[in-house]
Amino acid sequence: MELPNGEQSAELLQAQAHIWNQIFNFINSMSLKCAIQLGIPDAIHSHGRPMTLSELVDALPIHHTKAQFIYRLMRILIHSDFFVRQKISEIDEEGGYLLTPASRLLLKDEPFSVTPLLLALLDPIMTNPWHHVSEWFQNDEPTPFYTTHGRTIWEYAGHEPKLNHFFNDAMSSDTRLITSVVVRDCKGVFDGFNSLVDVGGGTGTFAKATADRFPHLKCIVLDLPHVVADLEGTENLSYVGGDMFEAIPPADAVLLKWILHDWSDEKSLRILKKCKEVIPSKDKGGKVIIIDMIMQNQKGDDELIETQLFCNLEMMILYAGKERNEKEWAKLFFDAGFSDYKITHVLGLRSVIEVYP
Ligand SMILES: C[S@@+](CC[C@H](N)C(=O)[O-])C[C@H]1O[C@@H](n2cnc3c(N)ncnc32)[C@H](O)[C@@H]1O
Repeated sequence: MELPNGEQSAELLQAQAHIWNQIFNFINSMSLKCAIQLGIPDAIHSHGRPMTLSELVDALPIHHTKAQFIYRLMRILIHSDFFVRQKISEIDEEGGYLLTPASRLLLKDEPFSVTPLLLALLDPIMTNPWHHVSEWFQNDEPTPFYTTHGRTIWEYAGHEPKLNHFFNDAMSSDTRLITSVVVRDCKGVFDGFNSLVDVGGGTGTFAKATADRFPHLKCIVLDLPHVVADLEGTENLSYVGGDMFEAIPPADAVLLKWILHDWSDEKSLRILKKCKEVIPSKDKGGKVIIIDMIMQNQKGDDELIETQLFCNLEMMILYAGKERNEKEWAKLFFDAGFSDYKITHVLGLRSVIEVYP
């Protein structure tokens, strides 16, 4: 068959290469998941010095017939910056594997480990909906997650302990890192109020850390009953099982971390209006603290922009939510009756937004 009129073969082949690259994009995340499940970062970390391929193979819980394939897995993970190879001696050709900052953040005992989030988001319960996106575009169901599983993610988590646990663990692991940064770098956020309700606060990771760090603060965690069942509070921390669309316990400040991106504008507006009802005026310390993404605040960094675009679609697929740019956030705040807001960009992909009545 002849090439179409005027079409340059180089252009055609470049287009084909681009498509191949996109087809195989999932291999990055699946290779990483496999490395975590085999314990590769922990094995290299425990080794304490550059680890040769044969030492790595010996340390992994794999069938001996599969030893020959580890090299190929490691090659792609070096390419995606999860490992590096370092020369061990002058005569050494092979070198040994070492961790990078990204794989250090995936170690099992790393306090800020991202592994629970990675394993949760790459679990088939969460990735299968991606096979139903075009079907969802043609039906009237709220999300591809619903089209796949026949219920919302929150209903599913209420009936399936496995999802409930891995989801809560994933959220907790993320919140540990975010809380440490906020407590250290945004101290002003905690000034001027005596009580805080963490709405959709999961198992209370943020509230627990805050209650310990600021003993004068009375902290409340509101989440769905299946999330907070059996959790015990302390003197200045309590758990409430309920529905944020129905009632939010009154407090000086409300925290919404990774909440509003789960919801449409209409539902987010309802949540924000409910928050406004339960907090005092600005001069009495009233505010809503939002920790979420602001789209397009990372101009120029291709990887960050792509990650934000990924997140925006992930919210659509799993929750019927969306990531928002500053204009969209501001519209939500003013429509909900708030008068002002302040953004602090200290959380990498996300930001802290303080919203005042
Ligand atoms: C994305 S998670 C964020 C959890 C936590 N804020 C964090 O960042 O670690 C959303 C949370 O909202 C909770 N949630 C969903 N619907 C809710 C509702 N109607 N009322 C209260 N909480 C709800 C979920 O159970 C979940 O814990």
